[in-house]
Amino acid sequence: MMEQASSVVIVPGYGMAVAQAQHRVRELYDQLHKRGVGVKFAIHPVAGRMPGHMNVLLAEAEIPYSDLVDMSEINADMGQCDVCLVLGANDVVNPAARFDKNSPIFGMPIIDADKARTVFAVKRSKNPGFAGIDNELYFLDKTWMLFGDAKVVVGDLVKNLQGQGEGH
Ligand code: TAP
Repeated sequence: MMEQASSVVIVPGYGMAVAQAQHRVRELYDQLHKRGVGVKFAIHPVAGRMPGHMNVLLAEAEIPYSDLVDMSEINADMGQCDVCLVLGANDVVNPAARFDKNSPIFGMPIIDADKARTVFAVKRSKNPGFAGIDNELYFLDKTWMLFGDAKVVVGDLVKNLQGQGEGH
């Protein structure tokens, strides 16, 4: 599906940092670029556990800064996004922040991953993120869960694109 996409948005979160998956992510970026797929990274200001956490990791993997897009800017384009890859992110893409007044994250701006045509969400389990709450994004018909460590799953996606593996 990513190969066929015109536009892929990757939303990195704390899980990418835990897995240290940024170099595999760079390989995925390269594979998709080679095929003419547009790839952008949606950067939430509190993704991860410290300010600038995602920027630092993606810069370490030498992902061009011009492809890192702030939440406020990328949200306008999420409706045209073919595939959104949510990579170890949870609270920052939780739609409950928009409507659930009882949620601890109510009112927090989020990245509108749920507006993409298809969502792939990579995490290891059904456990919640930092805020300790469920995320309905994972239960949408358009969402595919790819359970596993982010580095392993993205590595499998890369192998698949390189034609060397069975995929995940
Ligand atoms: P979280 O909501 O914490 O979600 C991270 C997700 O990553 C978890 O659901 C976890 O699920 C998954 N994960 C952990 N290790 C993984 C691995 N090795 N491979 C794949 N997935 C893995 O992260 P977020 O969306 O980045 O949001 C950040 C949260 O931290 C916000 O609530 C924010 O307010 C808070 N916070 C941020 C900061 C700053 S300044 N950035 C500071 C303090 C607190 P599994 O366990 O199922 O894998």
